[in-house]
Amino acid sequence: MTAPFRAPLPGEPWWRDAVIYQVYPRSFADSGGDGIGDLRGVLIRLDHLVDLGVDAVWLSPFYPSPQVDNGYDISDYRGVDPVFGTLDDLDALIAALHARGIRLVIDVVVNHTSDQHPWFQASRSDREDLRRGWYYWRDGRDGKPPNNWGSLFSGPAWELDPATGQYYLHTFAAGQPDLDWQHGGMRSAVHDMLRWWLDRGVDGFRLDVISMIGKDPTLPDGPVPEGAQYAAPSMGFAPSLHEHLQELHREVLAGRDLVTIGETPGASIEQARLIADPRRRELDMVFDFAHVSLDHGASKWDHVAVPLPTLKGCLAAWQQGLADHGWNSLYWDNHDQPRVVSRFGDDGAHRVASAKTLATVLHLHRGTPFVYQGEEIGMTSAHFTALEQYRDLESRGAAADLRATGHDEAAVLSALAAASRDNARTPVQWDDGPQAGFTTGTPWISVNPNAAEINVAAQRGEPHSVLAHYRRLIALRHDEPALALGSFALLLPDHDQLWVIVRRHGDVELLVVANCSAQAVTLPAELRPRPGDELLLDLAGGAPDALGPWHSRVHRRRRGAGSAAT
Ligand code: GLC
Repeated sequence: MTAPFRAPLPGEPWWRDAVIYQVYPRSFADSGGDGIGDLRGVLIRLDHLVDLGVDAVWLSPFYPSPQVDNGYDISDYRGVDPVFGTLDDLDALIAALHARGIRLVIDVVVNHTSDQHPWFQASRSDREDLRRGWYYWRDGRDGKPPNNWGSLFSGPAWELDPATGQYYLHTFAAGQPDLDWQHGGMRSAVHDMLRWWLDRGVDGFRLDVISMIGKDPTLPDGPVPEGAQYAAPSMGFAPSLHEHLQELHREVLAGRDLVTIGETPGASIEQARLIADPRRRELDMVFDFAHVSLDHGASKWDHVAVPLPTLKGCLAAWQQGLADHGWNSLYWDNHDQPRVVSRFGDDGAHRVASAKTLATVLHLHRGTPFVYQGEEIGMTSAHFTALEQYRDLESRGAAADLRATGHDEAAVLSALAAASRDNARTPVQWDDGPQAGFTTGTPWISVNPNAAEINVAAQRGEPHSVLAHYRRLIALRHDEPALALGSFALLLPDHDQLWVIVRRHGDVELLVVANCSAQAVTLPAELRPRPGDELLLDLAGGAPDALGPWHSRVHRRRRGAGSAAT
């Protein structure tokens, strides 16, 4: 059956004017009552995705896994973990999505596997095993690890394996050993696996921490920051990264109608351009971390306030940097980030307005917008009040480290409240019933008590809801080519309340004027609605010469009919 996918813009790939929705299956919807979301749960809730109008789903890992890192530790690349269902469920999900014109992008974790993966089991069994070289095995230095790297999840990045007397590298948890991409046999096995999924009908890949596959093979010591015990592990980006990605393109991607999204923590704009420039045949777009690192001080657990000019300047720099070659992904929330309304908005008095205005600003940038489950109803960070409520291994490790360095419980709780990944992993709030309609059992992580007020059911038929606003933004991306294709300019870069953007395409100009603060702003004359302006999104109502707290407008006008000065 040919799926009724929406027609792409002429001459453009389908993802150019698409909006992608991320499902983190563990927290999306539980069909079985064991308290953990599953694939049948996604199937049951498909109407929600149809109602939103998204073009594709990015599905976080569902593969067999010991679940050390909630599935980002894969022990079998060609299956489904029983906690999430079966391969038949996944086939049913692909078919059901396609029948609704929605594509499926799967999350592939190939910087590392689980330590339970048969590849690693073989590799660790014997120094002479054929798969020894698929991972990084090194001798220690004077009874210590081979270099001074720390794991991103606390402690050293090396684990001594007594059976063979060598250490293996794990950038993340000890249960996530890094694959060595210098090994051609390993790369071929990964290529085979990816082709297998494409033949099964998936429409693309989100490639987890893919920049890290390009490591300097000498694994050099790094500088240890003051007060720290270890150096940062390699974030990748060695020249070999591009060889591996170009090979992947040739071997797996070429000639297929796919999307490829590379997660690249720490990428510079230049590095992102190299990866996403279509002439170089690597990936379609990168997921960079620049704007979601702005509130990190000495570490991600040291929260600093972000002035508005810094935030908008950061996004604008990426817009300019990838304007000619490459493509941006646009995101606020995902399973690794606190909720945007709590982070850059106001999850108290102005929750609804700030959720809408932050969404407007992001979706009016050039690039492919991503909506993470729950963002479309303005879900807030978890606001946990006890350390026992945290499940994430990174957060638990950080709590132990912070305590060890003299932070009291209140300070640890406040650090986690600002930055923990669990902030975005609380269950999707479907209704105001028990456990927010997520499960009939006991959820694996607490439901946010604000589910009584913030939930999908309450917003579904409500025209002024955050949900209705997201629906409009997604429709606008499909209906107005200037969103996907227009040029981008940031006006008033130093204004500390207003975020003002102009997009131009042909004779269409879109002017976005957003008040990102809790105080009203009087607008300069050139930012007020003009006769003839079509107001595509108007949260302000009333007075044309001012914007109330977190209010915003999007104007559409024909150029020449009084363009905003740039
Ligand atoms: C990525 C994932 C994150 C995971 C890590 C290791 O950053 O998004 O959830 O913990 O990679 O796989």
